[in-house]
Amino acid sequence: MSSQPLLQVRDLSITLTRAGMHLPVLDAVSFDVAAGEVLGVVGESGAGKSVAGAAIIDLLVPPLRRASGAISLGGDRLDLMRPAEMRRVRGKRVGFVFQDPMTSLNPVLSIGRQLTDTMRTHLKLGRGALRSRALDWIERVGLPNPRRVFDAAPHELSGGQRQRIVIALALCAEPDIVIADEPTTALDVSVQAQMLDLMRTLHAETGAAMLLITHDLGVVAKMADRVAVFYAGRVVETAPTRTLFEAPRHPYTAGLMAATPAPDHEGRMQVTAIPGAMPGIGALPSGCAFHPRCVRAKADCLSMAPPLSPLGDGAAACFHPLQRKDVP
Ligand SMILES: Nc1ncnc2c1ncn2[C@@H]1O[C@H](COP(=O)(O)OP(=O)(O)O)[C@@H](O)[C@H]1O
Ligand SMILES: [Mg+2]
Repeated sequence: MSSQPLLQVRDLSITLTRAGMHLPVLDAVSFDVAAGEVLGVVGESGAGKSVAGAAIIDLLVPPLRRASGAISLGGDRLDLMRPAEMRRVRGKRVGFVFQDPMTSLNPVLSIGRQLTDTMRTHLKLGRGALRSRALDWIERVGLPNPRRVFDAAPHELSGGQRQRIVIALALCAEPDIVIADEPTTALDVSVQAQMLDLMRTLHAETGAAMLLITHDLGVVAKMADRVAVFYAGRVVETAPTRTLFEAPRHPYTAGLMAATPAPDHEGRMQVTAIPGAMPGIGALPSGCAFHPRCVRAKADCLSMAPPLSPLGDGAAACFHPLQRKDVP
């Protein structure tokens, strides 16, 4: 990326305080999101994806704490902002969509009120303009009968409809970037694909960048321009999506891909899970955190954690990365 990235996360470390000990949850995580880009953040449950997303918008609560790191948005240091400044950033410059739509919706306010309140806080619009823009958003996210939805309370909508409203809320103040954390995970499988299609359409229309957090490589393949793979609180590989899927370099990425259900030559769905489990907080092995599960591990992997180093058009944190020719 030649120009300055929109979002820049540098050496972000987060700790969890447990019994007086500060245990690492994220260890020197760095990644960039360019303006208009979709960065997929992927990894097994517990890898630190959500914590990273929450840290960007200062939504970490004890026992989690940012220990170090710099977070810049359009050149402004989010990590140095006071809470009042940060509140203006949230919503206006950064929208967010979480797994459970009810975390973003107020259960007692009408949909229309929530949309108009969000826009009033961040955009300079009169009453009539706010109402008509809210109705537009309800329509844009694909809900029928916008006037009825405008007056509805969240509980009158289905889970999928609520998540559509959350997407409208995330975008209505025209943010530069949306952080979407497992936005489709809680939805019925039948609704998930529609929701991704909607997000892709709105991304193209609004030009907002997106940090798309998911455990699902299928979601990443469909949506992301680039991917950052998380393992045990570190970024172990980054690459353009196409490169990553064609030729994963980190053995963990290759293992994740093998663990994604795929039809075999007879059309049956097969899953090859990576043996073992990701280490928990406070139980990181020495050296590379992946070495106990890695078929390529050698002596050096046990003694030192490999740094994330440029490799091809991406980067990998591995002393013995797969070569492009190793991938069938
Ligand atoms: N509020 C919390 N209190 C204690 N541990 C937490 C808290 N939030 C997250 N963690 C722990 O931090 C690690 C990273 O969590 P998270 O970012 O939610 O993982 P992911 O989103 O990749 O599944 C996990 O081990 C999780 O159990
Ligand atoms: Mg998560």
